[in-house]
Amino acid sequence: MGVVASAPAKVILFGEHFVVYGEPAIVLAIDKRAYAKAENRTDKRVFLRSTNLGLAVSVENRSFKVEQGDPREAKLKFEPVELAVGRVLEKYGENVGVNVEITSTVPVAAGLGSSAAVVVAVTTAVSALLDMNMPKEDIFKIAYEAEKLVHGTPSGVDPAISTFGGTLLYQMDTGFKPLEVKADIPLVIGDTGVERSTRVQVEKVRDMKERYPQVVQPMMSAAREIVLRALDAFKKNDLETLGGLMNLNQALLYGVGVSDESLEWLINAARKAGALGAKLTGAGGGGCMIALANNEKLEQVSEAIQRAGGRPFMARKTDEGARIEHT
Ligand code: PMV
Repeated sequence: MGVVASAPAKVILFGEHFVVYGEPAIVLAIDKRAYAKAENRTDKRVFLRSTNLGLAVSVENRSFKVEQGDPREAKLKFEPVELAVGRVLEKYGENVGVNVEITSTVPVAAGLGSSAAVVVAVTTAVSALLDMNMPKEDIFKIAYEAEKLVHGTPSGVDPAISTFGGTLLYQMDTGFKPLEVKADIPLVIGDTGVERSTRVQVEKVRDMKERYPQVVQPMMSAAREIVLRALDAFKKNDLETLGGLMNLNQALLYGVGVSDESLEWLINAARKAGALGAKLTGAGGGGCMIALANNEKLEQVSEAIQRAGGRPFMARKTDEGARIEHT
């Protein structure tokens, strides 16, 4: 008997990095998902395998044994997953074994929240396997705790959107507020193919903030103002203003040091090809950029990203957060 659950990846439209310091962010779940299949075991071991990454570990009494793939990588990738499974089993109250198999359509370390999507899918699958009827609020809390292992001071935006789906206004102190976005948001995502670490990018911003507090603080306020104006533009379905605000947001991200050549290249190509706006998404330093364009320009923008050396793909927003696929 097994349960398959899934959770979506995301793009941050506005406010990444600044969200770590309490500013608001607008984030959208997209139709790329991570899947986890959970099955009972007859022993008390937790066995975790990722088909895409070719990695597997088994865990007994919290001690890791690498079964497949590079040991360092396996530990790095599975530590948050193991923590999440451990929390679910703690809540269940009985020491039981589980097999978890992860497959994902989300590019890894690219700014689309792949690690959060995986942890949310696994937490959902294991809790459903044990018939725990776990509320989404608890799934979010467990995934947030696991994210803290991935990078020390996450805002929580990634596990929130993977759990709840849709379009969210997220702020650390007030949590998330679903936004009703009726309009289609025609986006092209461009993957630079450059893998990077969220932790390193978040540390860069922290250094910049500590070095130049009087310079960075106004940038934080500007980021908040951009989000507020974007909320207004969403209400009016004003894509042109949204695009302009994305460009402004990108200028701030560049300013705090998290853009890089690979991203700038794709962002410029998208703008030249007629995008209404373009910016990096997620932690930056490589990973993905997003471009907003009117429907008739989408193809052109996508081709320009490809010519500039990126891997473009279209993504649609999805309202579906974590869900059970089948039991
Ligand atoms: O690149 P990702 O998918 O790990 O997103 C990181 C988003 C940040 O705002 C940079 C960090 C955070 O915890 O919110």
